[in-house]
Amino acid sequence: MGSPGLSVLLTASEIGQRLDELAVEVNRHYPPGRDPHLVAVLKGSVVFLADFMRALGRPLTMDLIALSSYGAGTRSTGVVRVLKDLKEDPAGRDVLIVEDIVDSGRTLAWLRSTLKGRRPRSLRSVALLDKPTRRQTTVALEHVGFTIEDRFVVGYGLDLDERYRELPYVAVLDQDT
Ligand code: IMP
Ligand code: MG
Repeated sequence: MGSPGLSVLLTASEIGQRLDELAVEVNRHYPPGRDPHLVAVLKGSVVFLADFMRALGRPLTMDLIALSSYGAGTRSTGVVRVLKDLKEDPAGRDVLIVEDIVDSGRTLAWLRSTLKGRRPRSLRSVALLDKPTRRQTTVALEHVGFTIEDRFVVGYGLDLDERYRELPYVAVLDQDT
């Protein structure tokens, strides 16, 4: 079997332009003296994090947490596991969760309630991509880059079985169309 083909959904320049708009929107919630503490979810969010923290263009701090809600393949198991915990205590900080994509919402719902228990000063979330039609649970998501249909996407950090993360654009696998 060869690799499936890819159809570009969001080009690198579309993503870059949207990140600049999103940064303006997000920055409004963090005045000087209330620098955001970004908590990014490994591994899928690293490309978005790297570009978005520079688009924000203001003082901030960041931390990483590794969670897994997926086994191999494209469907959620609904089980969230902590693979690597935060390094910094989020207590008293203005925490901004940085997610690659919100699908069923289970990962974000779990992370929000877990972080809330650690007493941040404020808690908001930003996701590059949102698939609202797939939601299995109600969860707050304050900032979204792009709302997309129920298609499995790869690239710009997103993987299928650890592949395609390096692509500078977001694509749909042709076999999934
Ligand atoms: P949720 O818990 O179902 O919302 O899943 C969120 C996580 O599943 C994301 O952070 C991704 O890692 C992964 N995920 C969901 N949809 C996709 C997709 O279309 N492509 C790649 N990963 C996805
Ligand atoms: Mg993820």
